[in-house]
Amino acid sequence: MPQLIVVMRNGEERTVTGEAGLSVMEVIRDAGIDEILALCGGCCSCATCHVHVDPAFAAKLPAISLDENDLLDSTAGRDGTSRLSCQIPFTDALDGLRVRIAEED
Ligand code: FES
Repeated sequence: MPQLIVVMRNGEERTVTGEAGLSVMEVIRDAGIDEILALCGGCCSCATCHVHVDPAFAAKLPAISLDENDLLDSTAGRDGTSRLSCQIPFTDALDGLRVRIAEED
């Protein structure tokens, strides 16, 4: 199963195994990492699953939808690597993906 590297807010890195087919948010949540609130449960309406994605994987990610883009605009810490983790399906092609959990708004 593909692995996901999660950088916590304190800089600690955790490598977790994720089931392909889940979203990156679900993989993080299922690993017991509670720094991602994911209040809306993954329906792209809360932005509490904001992460910064390793630019090396940018080309492998699905395009940002208008809804995701609008929500990211409402977050304080958005930059060029920002994504909502619930909008990224975790696949074998993303094995080794590194994401940093965004600061809390
Ligand atoms: S979990 Fe709410 S937008 Fe991702």
